[in-house]
Amino acid sequence: MTDDSPGTWGSDSGRDTGELFAADDSNRLIKNLELLEVGAVPEGDRIVGRDNEIESLVSNLKPIVRGDPPTPVLISGKTGTGKSLVARHVAQTATSVAEREDLRVADIYVDCSQHSTETRAVCATAREINKAAGSPKDIPLTGLGASQYYTIIWELLEDFDAAVVILDEIDRIQPDSDGNRDNILMQLSRAREAQKTDTNIGIIAISNKLDYPDKMNQRVRSSFGDAELLFPPYDANQLREIMHAREDAFYDGALEGSVIPKAAALAAREHGDARKAIRILKNAGVIAEEKQDSKVREAHLNEAKRRAEADRVAEHVATQTPHARHILLALALLTKTADPDDGEDGYRTTHVYDAYCTVCEEEGTEELKIDRVRQLLDEQAFLDIIESRRTGGGHQQGTFTAWRLLKDPDVVVKGVGHDPELVSPKIGADD
Ligand SMILES: Nc1ncnc2c1ncn2[C@@H]1O[C@H](COP(=O)(O)OP(=O)(O)O)[C@@H](O)[C@H]1O
Ligand SMILES: [Mg+2]
Repeated sequence: MTDDSPGTWGSDSGRDTGELFAADDSNRLIKNLELLEVGAVPEGDRIVGRDNEIESLVSNLKPIVRGDPPTPVLISGKTGTGKSLVARHVAQTATSVAEREDLRVADIYVDCSQHSTETRAVCATAREINKAAGSPKDIPLTGLGASQYYTIIWELLEDFDAAVVILDEIDRIQPDSDGNRDNILMQLSRAREAQKTDTNIGIIAISNKLDYPDKMNQRVRSSFGDAELLFPPYDANQLREIMHAREDAFYDGALEGSVIPKAAALAAREHGDARKAIRILKNAGVIAEEKQDSKVREAHLNEAKRRAEADRVAEHVATQTPHARHILLALALLTKTADPDDGEDGYRTTHVYDAYCTVCEEEGTEELKIDRVRQLLDEQAFLDIIESRRTGGGHQQGTFTAWRLLKDPDVVVKGVGHDPELVSPKIGADD
């Protein structure tokens, strides 16, 4: 090759790579994919139907911008009801308003589903505060105990007038050996009182489980006073508005008029989950582009919804602890290969447990006791991944619990990262 100017490099077929870059985008329907990404924090005027919740959060955090101690807030609500979005939006606004008053505020966000023990969550909090302070310290990821990380936090906070700490998915923190799971809330909410720091800490704890507040240590709960906010599901009208506010993600005229209302109705039919609504809309756009259709149409919505559900399940499964994943895999494999127990459309705990033990054996992990497995099954049932039913079980069998997977087993198997070729023959054998 003598002439290596970029324009003349080609492939075997003689096509110019430069040409490929410039190639036909004429059937593009999505103009701004980012607006359809779920993680995006839209500007204030794009947050729909949460005025009251925003107002309450602001009034609890407001003392911060005057240099006074704020009230900690506990938010609960089902997934996709705008909890993380609203909390982040309000925290960011509080920080920038405070900065205008010349106060230095650390805006801290910790997703406890990624740091699911107290120690890991405090470690993550310390590292985030360190980042906000311009990384003066080197904080190790492991090797320190929770109390050492707290000490680092108190030291780092000396640099700030206030901090807003969002502890998202707080319900995912595992209880310690004493069954204690909200020590981090206790430490942060009482830090000033305990004279650990002079810095005001605004805490927003968020739970996807509606009964989390009831399970809290009463002393911790009392420091939240009555600052508990329940985010209700969106109705179809709100979902429609949420999607309309993102319509400019598409080129003019690319969306058939009935797409948004129909997508809103589909998402509202379950539990008014905005994340799902937006995913359906995005997928519909992607599918229409794949099909080289000239418009996003109602006809693309069913497939779009199916993909949205699969993504959700895969995401859920991927963030579970290893044993919870083994249990889900066991139940998925049973669902694919074994007849349900005793004419029920589910499997007994002992049956699931046997399958789970087989999975553990294949994974080379020691299995948990059956009582713990039953607890983990209960947790998954709470998360709407599986369903449990007490059943009569026919003649003289007494009652027992049957477990049924509510999601597509193939999606679960894939989500766990299990090779479908490796379906264990032992699990398939119906005993
Ligand atoms: N009120 C709203 N207005 C605009 N978009 C929203 C609204 N509520 C949720 N969304 C969108 O749905 C996504 C999921 O919301 P999120 O706050 O993460 O839900 P949750 O934390 O309750 O599970 C957000 O990232 C955002 O894209
Ligand atoms: Mg969230």
